[in-house]
Amino acid sequence: MLVTRQPVLKRFWYPIVPMTHLTQEAPIAFQLLGQPLVLWLEAEGQPRAIADSCCHRSAQLSKGVVIDGCVRCPYHGWAYAGDGRCVHVPQLTNGSIPKTYQVAAYRCTEQYGYAWVCLDEPLHPIPAIPEATDPGFRQIHEFYETWKVSGLRVIENSFDSAHGHFVHAKSWGDQGNPVPPPIDDIVEDETGFVMQHWVEVLNPDLQKKNLGITTDKTIRTNERRWFMPFARTLKIHYPNGLIHLIFTGYTPIDDQTSQLVQFCLRNDTEAEAKAADIIAFDRQVTQEDREVLETTDYDAPLAIAAEQHMASDKPGIIMRHRLAALLKAHGETEQRRPRD
Ligand code: FES
Ligand code: CO
Repeated sequence: MLVTRQPVLKRFWYPIVPMTHLTQEAPIAFQLLGQPLVLWLEAEGQPRAIADSCCHRSAQLSKGVVIDGCVRCPYHGWAYAGDGRCVHVPQLTNGSIPKTYQVAAYRCTEQYGYAWVCLDEPLHPIPAIPEATDPGFRQIHEFYETWKVSGLRVIENSFDSAHGHFVHAKSWGDQGNPVPPPIDDIVEDETGFVMQHWVEVLNPDLQKKNLGITTDKTIRTNERRWFMPFARTLKIHYPNGLIHLIFTGYTPIDDQTSQLVQFCLRNDTEAEAKAADIIAFDRQVTQEDREVLETTDYDAPLAIAAEQHMASDKPGIIMRHRLAALLKAHGETEQRRPRD
């Protein structure tokens, strides 16, 4: 599936950038599903996203500056408001600015400390994460980086209970114990599904410190939630009551590339586990996933018969069915790159 050629994917919210990266001076560029965007903060601190191409001579607005809440084109100085209207043309000394002087503006809002964008009418709200507003939890920003991997490949990895004992052999995997427990609890809902699962993992020293435990092995009970198309939460319950909830958005930049946006929520304190140590452990695990995922073919097929499967691939198979049904419901067929 080539994400830039499936218009229905524009109808989802995607986390784009940490709010701390946005300013009222310098705009930033981001490409979402192949659409170049310029983002900045308006005067009231609201994030805004419009097309990153001036309607005059197409210069990149993100190379300009933000002045009085508007983004100013670097070429001839036309300025645009957050609704995409050109509100200032320095060369125009009399008469009003024609209504045609405008660029496309997109829905853009803040949630969980990130700016989210939807390029079209949203089919669903931004994923709900109740722990994010629970005072018993602290939020730790983890990663913001560009991976050379397509959305379906990376999202299914987050639900793949067989890869860990190999990919994460240096962090928590146990190659002597490669058979994952059967997956018997996946409940689908309108926005995706929720999967209950457990896995026995090894605890290296850093993880013992982070978890406040001394045993070499632990049973992790996982609640994995899929938010169509490319976001997830992984809520890990440890036997000592610790909850480590990871949100990851694999925001689709183009057919081959995704932006990893990850934060975690924990019901412990900085005195019990330092944020830097928590990030360091998740850093290793995430890097291990990245190295193997970047070797996969970006054009992941939705057709089940196009690849081989095993029992632990059930979540990824459901994703293929659901995405195929989504395309069908919106009159689309799966777009793939030409085959030899
Ligand atoms: Fe932007 Fe001329 S190209 S003002
Ligand atoms: Co992994």
